[in-house]
Amino acid sequence: MNKDFLCLTDWSRSDLDAIFALARDLKGKQQRGEPHRLLAGKTLAMIFDKSSTRTRVSFEAGMVHLGGHALFLAPGNTQMGRGEPIKDTARCLARYCDGVMIRTFAQAAVEEFARYCDKPVINGLTDSYHPCQVMADLLTVIEHKGGVDGLTYCWIGDGNNMANSWINAAAVFGFELRVATPKGYEPDAAVRERAARMGATVVYTNDIMEAARDADVLNTDVWASMGQEAEQKEREQAFRGYQINMEVVRAAAPDCIVMHCLPAHRDEEITDEVMESRHSAIYDQAENRLHVQKAIMATLMK
Ligand code: CP
Ligand code: NVA
Repeated sequence: MNKDFLCLTDWSRSDLDAIFALARDLKGKQQRGEPHRLLAGKTLAMIFDKSSTRTRVSFEAGMVHLGGHALFLAPGNTQMGRGEPIKDTARCLARYCDGVMIRTFAQAAVEEFARYCDKPVINGLTDSYHPCQVMADLLTVIEHKGGVDGLTYCWIGDGNNMANSWINAAAVFGFELRVATPKGYEPDAAVRERAARMGATVVYTNDIMEAARDADVLNTDVWASMGQEAEQKEREQAFRGYQINMEVVRAAAPDCIVMHCLPAHRDEEITDEVMESRHSAIYDQAENRLHVQKAIMATLMK
């Protein structure tokens, strides 16, 4: 078992399957109003160098459900924001808290933090990966489709942190993934190469209809991620034609589900019509952040 949850490919399928099982158990308990205070008296520090709605609220609410407590730390009011070295903050937080969740820019910063922190560290999104989100997404697929295997997954849009996370999932779980991006916006070469070495079946294309054809799961994300706001206009040009709309949904399997990690720019990467359609699993995904992260925290911190 790993100390940290930083990147999906650090984990084995069997350990991730155990997290899904625990998440479903905790979700049932929460829905039935049964206590599940697996982390009674424990504390999670949450460091946010980027904005968040779902991640912050789901981790904080999740800790309360588990009988613990979460602390919100923003760069404007911590010494890290004034340049205190990561290793000093990491060592100190490890002495006060039972775990740390970090949302920041560089994956290397989270890895460095985890090296110096002898408590579990959870990646709450970096420029490279968003492993908690893809776990919530896969839990949603399990609920909608009965499992993750034997399905065809399609990513349309930017080759960003979420695309990388889906490629990692394809490598760990062994399902077929098709990734359609505009030229110049393909996922990171190192991520692609690692997945290939792990035996992943991932098809990369610029043709969105080729990717979407008969797919069971359609997935997208914003065209400009946090930190790329200055590129918004240029990206709107580059990504024109890479939108999930009803034409794309009709090319997929008749009972396909459509996913988006949120926040969405309606009528850019996905139409309002698709988001409001019977195919949308988007709010189930958002809800499952809570359940799967409770399972991740309980696994690492108990
Ligand atoms: N999907 C997600 O991580 O949402 P937030 O940015 O609101 O946390
Ligand atoms: N790719 C997006 C995901 C937000 C949850 C970003 O990094 O901004």
